[in-house]
Amino acid sequence: MKKVLSLITGLMLGSAAVPAANAKTLVAYFTLSGNTEKAAKIVAEETGADLYKIELVTPYPAEYKAQTELAKKELADGTLPAIKPWPENIDEYDVVFIGSPVWWGTMSTPVRTFLASGVLKGKTVIPFVTHGGGGADESFADTEKLCEGCNVITDGWSGYSRITFGLAGWAEKSLKAATSNDK
Ligand SMILES: Cc1cc2nc3c(=O)[nH]c(=O)nc-3n(C[C@H](O)[C@H](O)[C@H](O)COP(=O)(O)O)c2cc1C
Repeated sequence: MKKVLSLITGLMLGSAAVPAANAKTLVAYFTLSGNTEKAAKIVAEETGADLYKIELVTPYPAEYKAQTELAKKELADGTLPAIKPWPENIDEYDVVFIGSPVWWGTMSTPVRTFLASGVLKGKTVIPFVTHGGGGADESFADTEKLCEGCNVITDGWSGYSRITFGLAGWAEKSLKAATSNDK
């Protein structure tokens, strides 16, 4: 009875769009030197999600200085570099964790391409980042700006380099909150 009542209340409050507890979950991430990939694998393992590595059509330069210069230029002129196709079944996912290295205080440009593509519209998007000491900075606020029509949870996780302290607990808690009507 309690279940039926809460279902009816949920429908009346218009909260039917909240993903169910068995929501299909994806962890999409970009990485250049492996730190975000390490974090992404932990999030996927903790939440039982599928993994999707965002890859560039034209790979980034191998050298750090060249990487920072290209990223700076792309961010300044709004270039969204082409990425390889995302999974064909992307429509099936209700919740998408999105992992990125912090580049110049924001999400990396390949992740920006994915966020701005429109493919995540209507989904719950939960960002996490790894950084080199500057913290998440504008990453989470920018995720919300870029991902139009998405339900972005701006209480993201950020970690320095390869340190993943607190990540597993955060991932579990975030998914629970995103798929629960008890908010
Ligand atoms: C192009 C570029 C820009 C970066 N900008 C920042 C920054 O603004 N703040 C920061 O803390 N770290 C910055 N870093 C460091 C990375 O965020 C950090 O090393 C990250 O963990 C790398 O993740 P990855 O191994 O998944 O590529 C930058 C690195 C690159 C390559």
